[in-house]
Amino acid sequence: MKSKTLDIHELQVIRARCETIIHEAGDLLRAGFRSDIRIETKSNENDWVTQYDKQCETFLVERLTAAFPTHGIVGEEGSNIRPESALQWYLDPIDGTTNFAHGLAPFCISMALYDGKAPLVGMIYDPIGEELFWAITGNGAYLTNRLVTAQRLQVTPEKQLERSLLITGFPYDRSNPKNNNYSEITLMLDHAQGVRRIGSAALDLCYVAAGRAEGYWEQFLNSWDIAAGMLIAAEAGAVLSMLDGSPLFIQERVSLLAANPAIHPQILAHFKSLT
Ligand code: IPD
Ligand code: CA
Ligand code: CA
Repeated sequence: MKSKTLDIHELQVIRARCETIIHEAGDLLRAGFRSDIRIETKSNENDWVTQYDKQCETFLVERLTAAFPTHGIVGEEGSNIRPESALQWYLDPIDGTTNFAHGLAPFCISMALYDGKAPLVGMIYDPIGEELFWAITGNGAYLTNRLVTAQRLQVTPEKQLERSLLITGFPYDRSNPKNNNYSEITLMLDHAQGVRRIGSAALDLCYVAAGRAEGYWEQFLNSWDIAAGMLIAAEAGAVLSMLDGSPLFIQERVSLLAANPAIHPQILAHFKSLT
């Protein structure tokens, strides 16, 4: 989808600035990883936040505000700046806080710029694996790491669900059997080659984009969890929808399915059998 307000050259400049900022944020998290971590709880006892989530979001907001003073910012740790702006950044300063707090990798920083509901730029950085996933709308998805400067990403061509590796995740509040994902994972364990719980929705979407897994589903995600990953997966050829098959767009709460084009309808058909 083309932006109405920004051309590709402007988007490339934004992408380059975003890369500098996300690498510096990665340095901050790397320094904090396995250090003295202070944990507080948020929505319930399983939903943790550390001092590094907050420091990283403050850092990202300062740097983005300096670089793009007219853009709005929505961040997981409470930022809601210039909500009237059509151009909005969605920030997850640590996606995978549970992993981070336990000294377990991976986790990442996720940043995405949207024009209303249209994604423009998405960037996700895993500072321990040193992998940077990024996409500009209409221009493909890429991986930059120690080995490659820009490797184009493509979902796998796998057509058989029984040979597919799937990824999923679970909400912090698992008390409601209607959306705790227990039925869905039980079903998929019977039909897929394997199912993984990695612990970062943003990286889960990148791994589908990079062809490391065929599909990913999860319920009850927030906009900042998936804003960048949705664009990266779509630009790598994934089919994305809500879990019931309806169209997916950025919104406060999302239950989504992302998979290669052959596997997406097969997973959807199984989920429909549950309703
Ligand atoms: C969480 C991670 C996790 C997913 C949760 C998210 P956070 O984000 O993406 O994989 O299962 O639903 O809330 O809390 O680590 O930013
Ligand atoms: Ca998150
Ligand atoms: Ca987070």
